[in-house]
Amino acid sequence: MMIIEPKAVHDFYNGVMEGKPVMKSRKLLKDILTAYENPDKGEDPERVMYEVYCYEAEDKIQQGSLSWGLTVMYPECVNGEFNFTRGHIHQDTSCGEFYFGLAGEGLLLLMDIEGNAWAEKISPNSLHYVNGKLAHRLVNTGDQVLKVGACWPSNAGHNYEWVEKHPFPVRVYKKNGEIVCI
Ligand code: F6R
Ligand code: ZN
Repeated sequence: MMIIEPKAVHDFYNGVMEGKPVMKSRKLLKDILTAYENPDKGEDPERVMYEVYCYEAEDKIQQGSLSWGLTVMYPECVNGEFNFTRGHIHQDTSCGEFYFGLAGEGLLLLMDIEGNAWAEKISPNSLHYVNGKLAHRLVNTGDQVLKVGACWPSNAGHNYEWVEKHPFPVRVYKKNGEIVCI
Protein backbone atom coordinates (compact mmCIF):
# COMPACT_ATOMS: atom_id res chain seq x y z
CA MET A 1 0.00 0.00 0.00
CA MET A 2 1.27 3.47 -0.88
CA ILE A 3 1.12 6.06 1.90
CA ILE A 4 0.72 9.61 0.56
CA GLU A 5 2.15 12.49 2.57
CA PRO A 6 -1.06 14.57 2.83
CA LYS A 7 0.36 18.06 3.24
CA ALA A 8 2.49 17.79 0.13
CA VAL A 9 -0.56 16.81 -1.88
CA HIS A 10 -3.48 18.82 -0.45
CA ASP A 11 -2.91 21.93 1.64
CA PHE A 12 -6.17 23.77 2.30
CA TYR A 13 -4.45 26.70 4.04
CA ASN A 14 -2.47 27.57 0.91
CA GLY A 15 -4.91 26.53 -1.79
CA VAL A 16 -2.92 23.52 -2.93
CA MET A 17 -4.59 20.46 -4.39
CA GLU A 18 -2.69 17.52 -5.77
CA GLY A 19 0.56 19.37 -5.20
CA LYS A 20 -0.38 22.52 -7.15
CA PRO A 21 -1.90 25.88 -6.13
CA VAL A 22 -5.35 25.99 -7.72
CA MET A 23 -6.03 29.72 -8.01
CA LYS A 24 -9.23 30.20 -9.95
CA SER A 25 -9.63 33.95 -9.88
CA ARG A 26 -8.03 37.12 -8.63
CA LYS A 27 -10.22 40.17 -8.13
CA LEU A 28 -8.63 43.57 -8.55
CA LEU A 29 -10.34 46.67 -7.24
CA LYS A 30 -11.30 47.67 -10.79
CA ASP A 31 -13.26 44.40 -11.13
CA ILE A 32 -15.51 45.17 -8.17
CA LEU A 33 -15.16 48.95 -7.81
CA THR A 34 -18.73 49.83 -8.75
CA ALA A 35 -20.09 47.70 -5.89
CA TYR A 36 -18.56 50.11 -3.36
CA GLU A 37 -20.50 53.05 -2.04
CA ASN A 38 -17.86 55.64 -2.99
CA PRO A 39 -15.96 54.05 -5.87
CA ASP A 40 -14.26 57.02 -7.44
CA LYS A 41 -12.10 58.86 -4.98
CA GLY A 42 -8.58 58.24 -6.21
CA GLU A 43 -8.28 54.59 -5.21
CA ASP A 44 -5.71 52.47 -7.10
CA PRO A 45 -7.80 50.27 -9.44
CA GLU A 46 -5.01 47.66 -9.75
CA ARG A 47 -5.02 46.73 -6.05
CA VAL A 48 -5.54 43.00 -5.44
CA MET A 49 -8.65 42.63 -3.26
CA TYR A 50 -9.15 38.87 -3.09
CA GLU A 51 -8.23 35.54 -4.61
CA VAL A 52 -10.25 32.36 -4.84
CA TYR A 53 -8.64 28.93 -4.97
CA CYS A 54 -11.00 26.24 -6.05
CA TYR A 55 -11.02 22.56 -6.74
CA GLU A 56 -13.95 21.03 -8.54
CA ALA A 57 -14.20 17.38 -9.38
CA GLU A 58 -14.23 16.62 -13.11
CA ASP A 59 -17.63 15.03 -12.69
CA LYS A 60 -18.94 18.35 -11.37
CA ILE A 61 -22.38 18.07 -12.90
CA GLN A 62 -23.05 14.84 -11.08
CA GLN A 63 -25.25 15.23 -8.08
CA GLY A 64 -23.40 14.46 -4.88
CA SER A 65 -19.94 15.67 -5.92
CA LEU A 66 -18.37 18.40 -3.81
CA SER A 67 -16.25 21.45 -4.53
CA TRP A 68 -13.73 22.94 -2.20
CA GLY A 69 -12.49 26.53 -2.08
CA LEU A 70 -10.26 28.95 -0.26
CA THR A 71 -10.89 32.70 -0.30
CA VAL A 72 -7.94 34.95 0.54
CA MET A 73 -8.95 38.55 1.23
CA TYR A 74 -6.45 41.34 1.69
CA PRO A 75 -6.81 43.93 4.46
CA GLU A 76 -7.95 46.74 2.18
CA CYS A 77 -10.53 49.51 2.50
CA VAL A 78 -12.13 51.55 -0.26
CA ASN A 79 -12.88 55.03 1.03
CA GLY A 80 -13.44 53.61 4.50
CA GLU A 81 -15.47 50.59 3.39
CA PHE A 82 -13.98 47.17 4.21
CA ASN A 83 -12.97 44.78 1.41
CA PHE A 84 -15.88 42.48 0.47
CA THR A 85 -16.50 39.67 -2.00
CA ARG A 86 -18.90 40.15 -4.88
CA GLY A 87 -21.48 37.93 -3.16
CA HIS A 88 -23.92 35.44 -4.66
CA ILE A 89 -26.79 33.09 -4.02
CA HIS A 90 -26.61 29.56 -5.36
CA GLN A 91 -28.40 28.92 -8.62
CA ASP A 92 -29.82 25.76 -7.10
CA THR A 93 -31.12 27.06 -3.79
CA SER A 94 -31.37 23.54 -2.38
CA CYS A 95 -27.54 23.54 -2.22
CA GLY A 96 -26.07 24.80 1.05
CA GLU A 97 -22.43 25.43 1.87
CA PHE A 98 -19.99 25.31 4.78
CA TYR A 99 -17.60 28.19 5.43
CA PHE A 100 -14.80 27.90 7.98
CA GLY A 101 -12.46 30.56 9.27
CA LEU A 102 -8.75 29.85 8.84
CA ALA A 103 -6.95 33.15 9.46
CA GLY A 104 -7.79 36.77 10.21
CA GLU A 105 -11.07 38.36 11.24
CA GLY A 106 -14.14 39.09 9.20
CA LEU A 107 -17.87 38.91 8.74
CA LEU A 108 -20.08 36.59 6.77
CA LEU A 109 -23.04 38.63 5.54
CA LEU A 110 -26.16 36.59 4.90
CA MET A 111 -29.38 37.75 3.24
CA ASP A 112 -32.67 35.95 2.65
CA ILE A 113 -34.83 36.43 -0.45
CA GLU A 114 -36.96 39.03 1.37
CA GLY A 115 -33.86 41.17 1.82
CA ASN A 116 -33.39 40.56 5.57
CA ALA A 117 -29.68 40.56 6.30
CA TRP A 118 -27.45 39.69 9.24
CA ALA A 119 -23.81 38.89 9.91
CA GLU A 120 -21.78 36.16 11.59
CA LYS A 121 -18.30 36.85 12.93
CA ILE A 122 -15.57 34.80 11.27
CA SER A 123 -12.32 33.99 13.05
CA PRO A 124 -9.85 31.08 12.96
CA ASN A 125 -11.72 27.80 13.58
CA SER A 126 -15.22 29.28 13.31
CA LEU A 127 -17.65 27.19 11.30
CA HIS A 128 -20.64 28.58 9.39
CA TYR A 129 -23.47 26.83 7.64
CA VAL A 130 -24.95 28.78 4.73
CA ASN A 131 -28.46 27.66 3.87
CA GLY A 132 -28.84 27.48 0.06
CA LYS A 133 -31.65 30.02 0.21
CA LEU A 134 -29.30 32.71 1.51
CA ALA A 135 -27.10 35.11 -0.44
CA HIS A 136 -23.61 35.24 1.07
CA ARG A 137 -20.71 37.69 1.06
CA LEU A 138 -17.43 37.86 3.01
CA VAL A 139 -15.97 41.05 4.50
CA ASN A 140 -12.42 41.38 5.80
CA THR A 141 -12.77 43.60 8.89
CA GLY A 142 -9.28 42.98 10.23
CA ASP A 143 -5.81 44.30 9.55
CA GLN A 144 -4.54 40.86 8.49
CA VAL A 145 -5.30 38.64 5.52
CA LEU A 146 -8.65 36.87 5.97
CA LYS A 147 -8.63 33.24 4.85
CA VAL A 148 -11.90 31.33 4.66
CA GLY A 149 -12.33 27.75 3.48
CA ALA A 150 -15.55 26.51 1.91
CA CYS A 151 -17.18 23.32 0.73
CA TRP A 152 -20.32 23.19 -1.44
CA PRO A 153 -22.13 20.85 -3.84
CA SER A 154 -20.48 21.12 -7.27
CA ASN A 155 -23.81 21.50 -9.02
CA ALA A 156 -24.84 24.54 -6.88
CA GLY A 157 -24.06 27.21 -9.49
CA HIS A 158 -23.38 30.85 -8.63
CA ASN A 159 -25.97 33.52 -9.25
CA TYR A 160 -24.27 36.94 -9.08
CA GLU A 161 -26.98 38.77 -11.00
CA TRP A 162 -29.50 38.16 -8.24
CA VAL A 163 -27.28 39.98 -5.74
CA GLU A 164 -26.71 42.81 -8.21
CA LYS A 165 -30.50 43.22 -8.50
CA HIS A 166 -31.03 42.75 -4.75
CA PRO A 167 -27.99 44.39 -3.12
CA PHE A 168 -27.10 43.62 0.48
CA PRO A 169 -28.73 46.32 2.63
CA VAL A 170 -25.65 46.45 4.90
CA ARG A 171 -22.25 48.05 4.32
CA VAL A 172 -19.33 47.67 6.70
CA TYR A 173 -16.97 50.60 7.39
CA LYS A 174 -13.92 51.37 9.44
CA LYS A 175 -14.69 54.54 11.40
CA ASN A 176 -12.20 55.83 14.00
CA GLY A 177 -10.69 52.34 14.17
CA GLU A 178 -14.09 50.72 14.88
CA ILE A 179 -16.16 48.36 12.74
CA VAL A 180 -19.44 50.05 11.87
CA CYS A 181 -22.29 48.34 9.99
CA ILE A 182 -24.69 50.70 8.25
C1 F6R B 1 -18.58 29.19 -3.31
C2 F6R B 1 -18.39 30.33 -2.38
C3 F6R B 1 -17.02 30.91 -2.19
C4 F6R B 1 -17.00 32.24 -2.97
C5 F6R B 1 -15.76 33.10 -2.69
C6 F6R B 1 -15.72 34.38 -3.52
O1 F6R B 1 -19.92 28.83 -3.39
O2 F6R B 1 -19.31 30.82 -1.79
O3 F6R B 1 -15.99 30.09 -2.59
O4 F6R B 1 -17.12 31.95 -4.36
O5 F6R B 1 -15.75 33.48 -1.34
O6 F6R B 1 -16.93 35.07 -3.46
P1 F6R B 1 -17.72 35.46 -4.79
O7 F6R B 1 -17.84 34.18 -5.58
O8 F6R B 1 -19.04 35.96 -4.30
O9 F6R B 1 -16.90 36.47 -5.50
ZN1 ZN C 1 -21.39 30.06 -2.30
